[in-house]
Amino acid sequence: MKIMSGNGNLPLAQAIAAYLELPLTKASVRRFADEEVFVEIHENVRGEDVFVIQSTSFPANDNLMELLICIDALRRASARRITAVVPYFGYARQDRKPGPRTPISAKLVANLITTAGADRVLAVDLHAGQIQGFFDIPTDNLFAAPVMAADIQTRYAGQEIMVVSPDVGGVVRARALAKRLDNAPLAIVDKRRDSPGQSEVMNIIGEVKGRMCILIDDIIDSGGTLCNAADALMQGGATGVAAYISHGVLSGGAVARVDKSVLKELVITDSILPTEATLGSSRIRVMSIASLLGEAVRRTADESSVSSLFD
Ligand code: R5P
Repeated sequence: MKIMSGNGNLPLAQAIAAYLELPLTKASVRRFADEEVFVEIHENVRGEDVFVIQSTSFPANDNLMELLICIDALRRASARRITAVVPYFGYARQDRKPGPRTPISAKLVANLITTAGADRVLAVDLHAGQIQGFFDIPTDNLFAAPVMAADIQTRYAGQEIMVVSPDVGGVVRARALAKRLDNAPLAIVDKRRDSPGQSEVMNIIGEVKGRMCILIDDIIDSGGTLCNAADALMQGGATGVAAYISHGVLSGGAVARVDKSVLKELVITDSILPTEATLGSSRIRVMSIASLLGEAVRRTADESSVSSLFD
């Protein structure tokens, strides 16, 4: 087995390789003067089971092109099997047509990865489970929930916790986490705008008064969804609010927004390379999923069960 990485999240790739006690495959993934991506693999990969690690996070298009070109280079170098390990699958939120004459970009990205030559895909907390079905090659969707649940259990032991989904779309994810936390109670923040132009009203479904609320979501981007939900929960009488989010996209002023929010803590994973601002925030903690991914890679290579990682 070989582990290769693009430039999307090198520290995570190194940590996965360290878990597997393997060196990263010698390769250069660089730019020509006009910013075209060029990949050169400096060791033999003929007949190898190769895992390419690349999150398609910001800059999404560059990272996606690196992934596609790495796969192409491996295919032309006669790798036996190529698995695209995409800890953060960008474009996932474009998984349906929100209106007429709009694309389904998540499906296009799935087609591109397949056409480039990937035999399998390994992703983490896909925005929507059905994105697995956008691929006609085996696709494993790993969950950060076990890592999060273990952290919540140590951090909030003895407290009356309540798992909260910040929107109706995230209920399945929140319910799965609540189940891991000895069937903790569940609440939902329901955003409503009665008519266009009116400000959003946050209704909380569930009794959060006196509870330590744990918000769970797949993505924090601008931070709006999370910070607004945290405000509503505090107004509803929660004793505190913390958040566990798989992918810290954290665009624009999101870190500053989190720093100014009522959140006690935001925990994200390292599926996306944390920026200096993220690392400098006293409110944000980054939890590594390198061993989860490393173990999933090992099991894929050994042809053993990946799903049993989540039992
Ligand atoms: C939406 O369905 C996602 O699960 C996240 O809630 C959303 O992407 C977060 O975006 P933002 O941080 O910009 O509110």
